[in-house]
Amino acid sequence: MNVYDSARMADVLAPLGYAQAEGPEDADMVILNTCHIREKAADKVFSELGRLRALKTGRGGRMIIAVAGCVAQAEGEEILRRAPFVDIVLGPQTYHRLPEMVAKASRAAGKNGNGGAVLDTEFPLEPKFDFLPEARAEGASAFLSVQEGCDKFCTFCVVPYTRGAEYSRPAAAILAEARRLVAQGVVEITLLGQNVNGWHGEAPDGAVWSFGHLLREVAGIDGLEHIRYTTSHPRDMDDGLIAAHADLGKLMPFLHLPLQSGSDRILDAMNRRHDRRFYLDLVDRLKAARPDLALSSDFIVGFPGETDSDFRDTLDLVRRVGFVNTYSFKYSARPGTPAAAMPDQVDEAVKDARLAELQQLLSDQTRAFNHASVGKVMRVLLDRPGRRPGQLVGRTPFMQPVHVDDVGEHRGRVVDVRITEVHPNSLAGRAVDSERICA
Ligand code: 5AD
Ligand code: SF4
Repeated sequence: MNVYDSARMADVLAPLGYAQAEGPEDADMVILNTCHIREKAADKVFSELGRLRALKTGRGGRMIIAVAGCVAQAEGEEILRRAPFVDIVLGPQTYHRLPEMVAKASRAAGKNGNGGAVLDTEFPLEPKFDFLPEARAEGASAFLSVQEGCDKFCTFCVVPYTRGAEYSRPAAAILAEARRLVAQGVVEITLLGQNVNGWHGEAPDGAVWSFGHLLREVAGIDGLEHIRYTTSHPRDMDDGLIAAHADLGKLMPFLHLPLQSGSDRILDAMNRRHDRRFYLDLVDRLKAARPDLALSSDFIVGFPGETDSDFRDTLDLVRRVGFVNTYSFKYSARPGTPAAAMPDQVDEAVKDARLAELQQLLSDQTRAFNHASVGKVMRVLLDRPGRRPGQLVGRTPFMQPVHVDDVGEHRGRVVDVRITEVHPNSLAGRAVDSERICA
């Protein structure tokens, strides 16, 4: 979502004459779009700001530095105290106001050199989407934000505080943005939301649609070939959405469905609102609807109170379900979240050992899945140039990166590719036959 937000910030600033620079050295203004989800991500902001300070000083202060996103939302005052050379601090819900902020910051800089920083971390009543210019596509694959914020309040997570309450964009706005993207050459759209399958938005006729219904409407757009969505909560996977996986050929058979833990006790302490049984049943129902569906997930090890036996339950559930391309993290205590104040915080060394063991299992599963892909023909959107002349890189329906030689002229197209080899971090394949390549 931060990638999407950054692109929209560029769209907002384009009418002021700003264009994207290659790097901070070439820029009049630098915007750091930040993530607060784990401590490591948040810490990076201050080390990055240290580097930018040197650059700004070297230019006699003639550079605007802005900090955007969730670290700005959560630690705005702290940023201005620790890094007084920052000109603008803005949260994830106010970036449509960037032009006014830039004007204010420029005026302040003109007056006294560096004073008068602008801080805007409000949760405005007006949704920013109503004020953003039309999204511009870059390439054949695009993100489209449909939902933001979260009301689930998992006890470890800052998102409900930094992104705010759940908001679903109206269907008409989403469909219009999707059509505009397709008209600009986009063939794959990934619908985004912190809790994307919790989307329930106003339909064009005033009714309320569920997310499954929205997917059907998006799938009706001519010229669009692939649809993905992320990130989902298991609790919001309703029958209509499961049926969409059975019915919509454009919907990729790959689902990111965070599980976090395989222990009922820990799932409860995390306030995930479901248990192991529920997740396993859900996977069965999804696979009944779409037998080739592959699942990815997020896991946290070392949540407060997690015992060795809880951790074994996680390993057990991972073995039962089988995942590909999964993300796993050590629990990171986030200020203001209930879990940060829980007793029995787990030792870092124990977290390290558990993470290594889990990641070994998960990477074995991914590797086995990659090897099982060899010989299969998959629909691949070839959207990036590879290293060799004539080579393009794309992703399989299951998000595996794949290199294909001798297809240079097909950039931006969906091509049938037979998988031939597995490399450590990618696959190789060849286009099946040129007649079957979609125009
Ligand atoms: N510590 C570690 N991982 C976290 N995540 C969210 N909050 C934390 C935290 N405090 C992980 C979850 C989530 C993903 C986006 O980040 O696994 O699904
Ligand atoms: Fe955070 Fe996701 Fe839980 Fe919402 S559902 S609180 S975004 S982990």
